[in-house]
Parts: sequence; C-alpha cells; structure tokens
Amino acid sequence: MSENTSSWVYSERVKEHFMNPRNVLRDEENFQDDGRGTVGSIQCGDEMLVLIQVRDGRITDCRWRTYGCASAIASTSALSEMVKGMSLDDAARITPKQILNYLHGLPDSKVHCSVLGDKALRAAIEDYYQRNGIVIEQQERPAKIICECIGVTDQDIMSAAKDGAVTWNELQQKTKIGTVCGKCKTHAMEILDESLFEIHHETLKMHD
Ligand code: FES
Repeated sequence: MSENTSSWVYSERVKEHFMNPRNVLRDEENFQDDGRGTVGSIQCGDEMLVLIQVRDGRITDCRWRTYGCASAIASTSALSEMVKGMSLDDAARITPKQILNYLHGLPDSKVHCSVLGDKALRAAIEDYYQRNGIVIEQQERPAKIICECIGVTDQDIMSAAKDGAVTWNELQQKTKIGTVCGKCKTHAMEILDESLFEIHHETLKMHD
C-alpha cells in the first residue's frame, strides 16, 4: 500500500517544471524553426510537437507544445533545457532515462509520458537533416515508430530484446509500449520475435 502511494509522488523538480514550463511555444511568438517533429496523437491524449533552431550543428533554441499531462509537460520542459547548446548528434541520442534522471524520477504509471519528448526531438532533427538535404551516412537507419501512442520504435524493441525482454509483459515493462490503446501489440510482438531471432543468430555466429 505504501509502495503504491509513494509511486504517485512527484519530485520537486517535476512540480517545478510543471508549474513553470520552459520554452513553451506561444502562438504569438512566430518561432522560426529549422526542424520540427510530432509524435503521439490527440486520441491517445498525448501529442507532442518539438521545434528546434540549429546553428553550426548545434541546437541553439527549442520550443514545444503538448496536449499531455503534468508528467509530459514537465518532461518536455526539462528536455528543452537539456538540449540547448547540444550537438545534433548528442541530442539525437538523448534517452527517456536521461530525462527521468534530470527530473529525479516520475511516478511509475507516468513514465510513458516522458518517452514522447525524445521521440519528437529526434523527428525534429531528422526533419532538419531532410530540409537541408543532409545524408547522415554514419547514422543508423532511422527508427520506425511502432507504437504511436507512446512513440516506441523498432529500435527500442530491439534494445529491449537485447536487454532480456522475451514476453509482451517484459517488453512493456522496459518500454511502456502498448499501454494506451494497445493496437500496436501484434506488430510489436512480430518485431520482438524477429529481434530475438537475430540476437540468437548473432550469438551462434560468435560461437562458431
Ligand atoms: S499504438 Fe496506442 S498503445 Fe501503442
């Protein structure tokens, strides 16, 4: 009982970012973006828009807007502070875990809200590359979103498989996939199976 209760407590930093969100996009400000990305959907209750300005390969400014809950607002506010001055490369690698650490955690049932911000940011960075005709040769194949509500990609599923997820429950625990409308389950399980197959083959090759 006490565990459940404590898992609902917001950290001071979450409360602070929720009460005073940084870098929110205001209608009137006419922010000139160099890249923009959206993930989630209003039907699922969490849509996230992230805009970035870029100079010399670094994010110089960032704006965002979300139709999400307190956790989504606090997470994106934190993210918008974290990425300023960062190279596009580093910003593209920000993980939900880093955002959670920055916020000193979130209630368990709200963790999925924090994964939208980094996905929207990555989409904004890809948009910037596309607009400028930049082909990133070293970059991995762009991740494909499998769970639109949470913004979980095929690469996230592969990482979860490498991290030991074998069942749907284990995949959900690691990524929060499918915790809103659930329609992504069949496709996600196909990708999990393919990932496990690939991992198995790689392991066999290493032992040859
Ligand atoms: S698409 Fe809605 S929970 Fe995955």
